[in-house]
Amino acid sequence: MKTAAMRCTMIAASLTVAGAAAGADLVVHPQEWPRPAPALPADARLEARIDALLERMTPAEKIGQLIQANIGSITPDDLRHYPLGSVLNGADFAPGNDKLASPGEWLKLADRFYEASAGAPHALPVLWATDAVHGDNNIPGATIFPHNIGLGAARDPALLRRIGAITALEVRVTGLDWTFAPSVAVVRDARWGRTYESYGENPRLVAECGAALVEGLQGRAGTREFLDAAHVLATAKHFIGDGGTGGHDEGDNTAAEAELRDVDAAGHVAAIAAGVQTVMASFSSWQGAKMHGNRALLTEVLKQRMGFDGLVIGDWDGHAQLPGCTSASCAPAVNAGIDVLMAPESWRPLFVNMLAQANSGEIPAARLEDAVRRVLRVKLRAHLTEEGPPSSRPYAGHFELLASPVHRAVARQAVRESLVLLKNERELLPLKPRARVLVTGDGADSVQRQCGGWTIDWQGRQPSEAIRPAESIYAGIRAAVTAAGGRADLSPGGEFSVRPDVAIVVFGERPYAEGAGDVASLVDPDERRDVTLLERLHAQGIPVVAVLLSGRPLSIEAELALSDSFVAAWLPGAEGGGVADVLFRARDGTLAHDFRGRLPLAWPRTPAAGGAAPAGPLFPYGYGLRYIVKR
Ligand code: BGC
Repeated sequence: MKTAAMRCTMIAASLTVAGAAAGADLVVHPQEWPRPAPALPADARLEARIDALLERMTPAEKIGQLIQANIGSITPDDLRHYPLGSVLNGADFAPGNDKLASPGEWLKLADRFYEASAGAPHALPVLWATDAVHGDNNIPGATIFPHNIGLGAARDPALLRRIGAITALEVRVTGLDWTFAPSVAVVRDARWGRTYESYGENPRLVAECGAALVEGLQGRAGTREFLDAAHVLATAKHFIGDGGTGGHDEGDNTAAEAELRDVDAAGHVAAIAAGVQTVMASFSSWQGAKMHGNRALLTEVLKQRMGFDGLVIGDWDGHAQLPGCTSASCAPAVNAGIDVLMAPESWRPLFVNMLAQANSGEIPAARLEDAVRRVLRVKLRAHLTEEGPPSSRPYAGHFELLASPVHRAVARQAVRESLVLLKNERELLPLKPRARVLVTGDGADSVQRQCGGWTIDWQGRQPSEAIRPAESIYAGIRAAVTAAGGRADLSPGGEFSVRPDVAIVVFGERPYAEGAGDVASLVDPDERRDVTLLERLHAQGIPVVAVLLSGRPLSIEAELALSDSFVAAWLPGAEGGGVADVLFRARDGTLAHDFRGRLPLAWPRTPAAGGAAPAGPLFPYGYGLRYIVKR
């Protein structure tokens, strides 16, 4: 145990000011934070190559490496005058400003950015980053996996590695290099709009899942596959504390340092141990101070204590939220430890201002060199200087790999594994497929609702038809039932002419992303309508299987009471057939798939009418029923 005297000496030795304004009196104790074993050995040859490059680069070329622009606001030609180090496609941006642009258009644009960046003297090819957060989800025709919350329920690191590898390969098909995934947020309040981007509330679960995804995306550190032509750069995001802001996106995490370290940092530490090459700073604050300005956590904890030697990227204009900063000028963010500022639109004036700040010493030369060194290190590790134009790389242009049958089968497996069975009265499930099945509820035939946000566009508002290939939950049920000689009828309103043997009711949330998904309560606005449908079926004595599509636990007590079986399906993505795989027996009556999912976060009780929430969760963390109970 540490004595009070020891503690005082430690504080004196490590006293570190956490940030400007609100957080100015906060102290952080870097030496008390974890120090993961380095994923890669020190590499003197690599550092010597970086030294040589740094020597030749002009100040403008150096500053350029530290700025990332959005493809909606920069053309390849701009790179000839402003040698930026990277671009991104914001979640609502695509080549030609067409969200439905073909994969070939993405590859062509990647080539154009590459050619423009690689043409200049001592030029380093540009990196292109995308939010491939549940598959290569911005590309029409790519495999769409369940969102992270469902993968947290599946608890299958080997599956996550496969998903990461498939996502990387599909990103490579279109010539991109980098994905802003995984989110390693440890969600504590499901009212947060980014709950579904989290693997769950348990730091160990998040660490295990996040590290596995990083390994899948980048390849295993220290092996030949690491960042080879089949892999891409991964990003652990968001550093740090975004899951603990009381349900507010970009909010304030008021946890004590120990909680930040033991809970919020778990996924970052595991990702660093797995060799993650980039970390994104969080929009959120800690103890009132914005993370983008927190030198103690970004530099002393993340880089120095944890030994992270890759690059730290800011979030979308996140630097502009610092006191005294604008999107076009923010030396404090760079000085706090952000290496690359994500400046979607303001990159041009930012470039001019940063050059001046470097000249005047407002950004010290040593900080500048360190930031550029980190970008170069990541680029060289990713073999960017040897790879040639995107379209010349091994998997580029192999569009047949996008949503290939093998990739779709893995996505379907992920759906099966992510489902959590919350109730199964009188063992209604598994169902016999040779039956008359009514499929109802407004989520039954909606690929859009299955996929949620971050699918083709940011908020997930594209029509189901835009997400192809895909199978709705209804289509999967119909296939299973008709193959066995039964019949499945779709009726979103629940009407029927011949009485069904069973009704499967699919309902839940409409798509959202980030702050747009923050809610004040877990009562779904459409709940009344869904309850009415369930009441009607219940009153007619029809056995009911409820399937909830949601990015988080919701108020379900009424729905539970009116259903015989209840399945939390999360946001399963494009392969809705995985739901039927588990709900139904095989054609020959055997059990092909059992439920495997367990709750990745406790399911809260919802407030009683007019009152406070009763104590204890409705279902605890880890809950999930099985058909076959193993003893
Ligand atoms: C999100 C990040 C994302 C970035 C780029 C931001 O709004 O917070 O998670 O990577 O946009 O699209």
